[in-house]
Amino acid sequence: MEQEDGIRQELGSLHGIPLFKSFIEGWPQVKAFQARPDDLLISTYPKSGTTWLSEIMDMIYHDGNVEKCRRDAIYNRVPFLEMKVSKGLSGIEQLEKTPSPRLVKTHLPVQLLPTSFWEKDCKIIYMARNPKDVAVSYYFFHQMAKIHPDPGTKAEFLENFMAGKVAYGSWYDHVRGWWEEKQKKKILYLFYEDMKKDPRREVQKILQFLGKELEEGTVERILHHTSFQEMKKNPAANYETMLPTLMDHSLSPFLRKGGVRLVVEDLGGTSLDCISAPICGCKYFMCVRIYPSY
Ligand code: A3P
Repeated sequence: MEQEDGIRQELGSLHGIPLFKSFIEGWPQVKAFQARPDDLLISTYPKSGTTWLSEIMDMIYHDGNVEKCRRDAIYNRVPFLEMKVSKGLSGIEQLEKTPSPRLVKTHLPVQLLPTSFWEKDCKIIYMARNPKDVAVSYYFFHQMAKIHPDPGTKAEFLENFMAGKVAYGSWYDHVRGWWEEKQKKKILYLFYEDMKKDPRREVQKILQFLGKELEEGTVERILHHTSFQEMKKNPAANYETMLPTLMDHSLSPFLRKGGVRLVVEDLGGTSLDCISAPICGCKYFMCVRIYPSY
């Protein structure tokens, strides 16, 4: 049975993309959103390291000043463009109150991004994560973040994920859509797995993209502060401050494992093959890239 306040409701559909009904209600304001030229957009499919990248960006914007980055929770420091729930400010309202230069978070597929981001030629950083880890992370996130419908069993959830019947639709369409746009626009396209492997190199890529230089000690502080261990215990980064009715950390922490798994053992999958065939086969560039043996 559906409940009030957006808790465990069925998803609606926004231009064919499954999405929370409360977000769809706020769509006219999102569509009309006026980006500013110095806005920086952080775009991801859910569970792909959005919060990690957001914390890195806030640290870069504050020259590695840890205290300044503890000023508020990450979801207030980097407002979530299309977010709208019945209580509290919407993402749009938050952004209106945020002084420039703003960091903006979105999970929208590229075709739904409000046009003003393109018109104002805003810088955009996209981060992709391999679908196996995204699926596992998304399953546990469905359990703890009650805005999502009940995920059902692990097997049921995986079926829905592979069919794109989850919030924000198909993972593959999302990463591919933004990848194609990257060929034409000012988009830095990063991979979660690269960030895990060599965060210093990835932070340098970001700095170059921003045209910014930081001293080595500052970069060091950014890397330390945004490590998994540090973020996991940082209430300004780990979503602990969210209302428990919205996120129940006793069911699963927000920062769960933060790993790169090659099999989805957590979803009961036994081998790479059994999961990779339906999600990615060998035609999807992510899998070819991450699993070169394909
Ligand atoms: P897991 O659920 O696999 O642990 P998002 O912010 O897009 O919702 O993504 C959340 C995922 O990013 C979670 O994955 C979380 O642990 C991971 N994550 C967050 N901060 C991280 C960090 N500093 N290092 C590695 N992974 C991180």
